[in-house]
Amino acid sequence: MLRPRVYVSRQIFPDALDLIEKTAEIDLWPEEKPPSPEKLKEALHDVDGAIINVMDRIDGPLLDAAPKLKVLSQVAVGLDNIDIPEATRRGILLGYTPGVLAKSTADLAFALLLAVARRVVESDKWVREGNWEISHHPMFWLGSEVNGSTLGVLGLGGIGTETAKRALGFDMKVIYHSRTRKRDVEKAYGFKYASFKRILEESDFLSIHVPLTPKTKGFIGEKQLKSMKKSAILVNLSRGPVVDTNALYKSLTSGWIAGAGLDVFDPEPIPSNHPLLELDNVVVLPHIGSASNRSRRDMHLLAARNLISGLRGERMEECANPEVYQTLGI
Ligand code: DGY
Repeated sequence: MLRPRVYVSRQIFPDALDLIEKTAEIDLWPEEKPPSPEKLKEALHDVDGAIINVMDRIDGPLLDAAPKLKVLSQVAVGLDNIDIPEATRRGILLGYTPGVLAKSTADLAFALLLAVARRVVESDKWVREGNWEISHHPMFWLGSEVNGSTLGVLGLGGIGTETAKRALGFDMKVIYHSRTRKRDVEKAYGFKYASFKRILEESDFLSIHVPLTPKTKGFIGEKQLKSMKKSAILVNLSRGPVVDTNALYKSLTSGWIAGAGLDVFDPEPIPSNHPLLELDNVVVLPHIGSASNRSRRDMHLLAARNLISGLRGERMEECANPEVYQTLGI
């Protein structure tokens, strides 16, 4: 029987590739940079399935050019690069990788929070530049105290919950705002539900973990930033457009808030001459929330298993559009 053909749009762990190879012929994009939209369109034209990631924009016209496509398997929990209704309308199964990256992304949220609060990057640079001439000046490098402060978590999904759990080790008070109230999580960890307004007003640290949707685009703008504490630090590991970039820049240069730790940007990648990158009260990372060896390997293996299930016409471990099961009668 003819083996299905799949496209893998970026390099993945070898054991995930081996797994796919047992079932399908692989066409692997060999370059470090993602394929251009034209190359992606060409590559998807004649395949049954694909492993894709957040840099691959999947929309209706692209799917029109991929008549054989049965399954898309995204290596990420966020799906904002994909027009999900268009995939669903065509009966294309969409896999994704929630869960396996929550802990590593939460670890990094805390790394950013601590780095901004205690001015880790700024002072590291100062030492390397040979400026450490006055030893232990009592008034140098003063930062914000993390322990005992209030962490506001916006979006209490997998990553938000893991981030909030880490705050308990720092004796922080945790308040959260989420689409749905999570009473079981509140009970288990003592987190307190708060309105969006209260989260903004009371948080010393605001960590953002909502998915990017038309509703959450620009969720944090001028009005919201102005209502935060002047000493507050904002941490974003969700998606750049959830925070209005111009408003954020204004807030950081006008003293509406004290600092920001950013793993995501709008646009992404952020141009190297972007004014945000000139600010000392900002720590920036290149969208690497899930970039630990263990998480990335687990994501690739889960994406491979999702892909294979979809190719076999079976239910996936993690499917983002299970409505398609009904269309396919599985
Ligand atoms: C996710 O899983 O959505 C991450 O942001 C991708 O790296």
